[in-house]
Amino acid sequence: MMRLKRVLGWCVAIVAVVGVAGLWYSSHPEIEPLNASNPAKFSDEMVARGKLLADAGDCAVCHTSKDGVTNTGGLAIEIPFGTIYTTNITPDVETGIGSWSFDAFKRAMREGIDREGNYLYPAFPYTAFTKTSDADLEALYAYLMSQTAVKSHNPKTDLSFPFNIRRGISAWNLLFLSPGAYQPDTAQSEEWNRGAYLVEGLGHCSACHTPRNLMFAEKTGADYLGGGVAEGWIAPALNQHSPSPLGWNKQELVEYMRTGFSINHGVAAGPMAPVVKEGLSAQSDADLMAIATYLLSFQGSETKIPDGDREKAAADINLKAYSQIEPLTSQGARIFSGACMACHNQDSGPVLNGVKPSIALNSNLYESSPDNMIHIILNGIQSPATDKLGYMPAFRYNMNDQQIVALLSYLREDFAKQPAWPALAERVKQIRLETETDN
Ligand code: HEC
Ligand code: HEC
Ligand code: HEC
Repeated sequence: MMRLKRVLGWCVAIVAVVGVAGLWYSSHPEIEPLNASNPAKFSDEMVARGKLLADAGDCAVCHTSKDGVTNTGGLAIEIPFGTIYTTNITPDVETGIGSWSFDAFKRAMREGIDREGNYLYPAFPYTAFTKTSDADLEALYAYLMSQTAVKSHNPKTDLSFPFNIRRGISAWNLLFLSPGAYQPDTAQSEEWNRGAYLVEGLGHCSACHTPRNLMFAEKTGADYLGGGVAEGWIAPALNQHSPSPLGWNKQELVEYMRTGFSINHGVAAGPMAPVVKEGLSAQSDADLMAIATYLLSFQGSETKIPDGDREKAAADINLKAYSQIEPLTSQGARIFSGACMACHNQDSGPVLNGVKPSIALNSNLYESSPDNMIHIILNGIQSPATDKLGYMPAFRYNMNDQQIVALLSYLREDFAKQPAWPALAERVKQIRLETETDN
């Protein structure tokens, strides 16, 4: 189950209220079902290209339930007004998209309207997918229609009144959907435009990495990629507000997207792990470089440490933090030394388990919210972005709230020299409760 309370509350909230008020009215015709006895044929090359695009768009991440068959839907997305279930996007005629023509599929991706003419909830990221080119939509369609058709009767999306009235979404779309394929910015390089196409379109990176306005739509302008919330995790800013003490360079970004780990940062955990595992890690070098080029253009020049100086800057940050652990004068330092150092020291000793991320270089320690650190300590990292990373153990049953607060206060204030996190104890208690059933 996905908890998208804060991120995706948007999709329905005010929208439905406005719709019910009847301020806007619009309807769309049904698109004729396909003749199932005459299935279209697609080339292997086109299907393979479509699969890569489906990976880039994380289709299977959302359209597969826990232990379910890929793309048969049924994943529950919980929002404050009920539960939205993802749909079966295999070509089964009865329960999937087997009767969808290309035009019907294209309309869903560009406008968020299903074959029968119903509005889809923006929990389906069509505001981003709309930017996909016709040629890529054709390849995606070819891939989806070439999957094995699987019958899957998923639970029905069940939202309370008035959010169950899909037509309300038309009002929200009017304000926040700009339908149409990505148009290149001629002032930018071809590589930058390729990156923009992938990030703003299928990658839908800003769905998690951008804060939302009161209508739960993504903010624009200087707030773009300025950090957001996903399934109770913080998705850090990727623009000039990046919390990383070093900021990013191109090579680090490419490495992080390819392997889920960058030595000057940390790992892709939480909701970012499947984005790497099922999407980014399979993309071509050229495309990952293009994404990095695009992202770096939002980072601002003053935070950047030149490539030649980064190794030394990272070593200095590590030294400053790690060298003050001894003598173990506080409870937090003692816990860190005993419970964490074996796997997180930064000396040349052996790597016990996959990778050995530096806590001093980790963005999560420099965020204004402690939430990611709390998630990681309570629940560990059970589903790594790639198998090579190893697992981080959960400390839920080894430490009580007071011990986690002592550890985190130490890491934040003495280790990273950042101002104390407010209301830390309450957050630890709350997240422990919220994630109880996951473990
Ligand atoms: C963040 C989660 C998420 C991702 C990623 C996602 N979808 Fe969906 N999708 C949904 C949800 C939720 C619905 C159902 C919305 C509703 O019921 O209104 C949906 C509905 C659809 C529908 C309409 C199906 C129907 O029967 O009405 C299609 C088609 C679709 N998605 C295709 C895709 C494709 C192709 C991708 C990858 C490029 C993708 N989705 C990625 C969440 C997602
Ligand atoms: C489903 C939500 C979601 C989507 C979609 C998503 N991210 Fe993330 N991202 C996160 C979260 C959460 C983290 C924090 C992970 C952690 O701390 O381990 C993160 C971390 C990152 C980081 C590391 C930032 C840092 O300072 O440590 C980078 C880089 C990144 N994402 C890039 C991307 C790119 C590029 C895309 C689109 C292709 C993307 N993300 C799409 C949720 C998401
Ligand atoms: C048995 C080894 C081990 C121990 C003990 C351990 N960790 Fe980890 N930790 C890991 C590994 C391996 C990863 C990377 C896992 C992955 O991505 O799959 C990791 C990742 C992390 C991250 C980075 C997460 C991110 O999103 O970038 C943080 C922060 C962290 N650990 C904190 C701690 C703290 C605090 C403790 C002590 C309470 C601790 N770890 C104890 C092995 C360990």
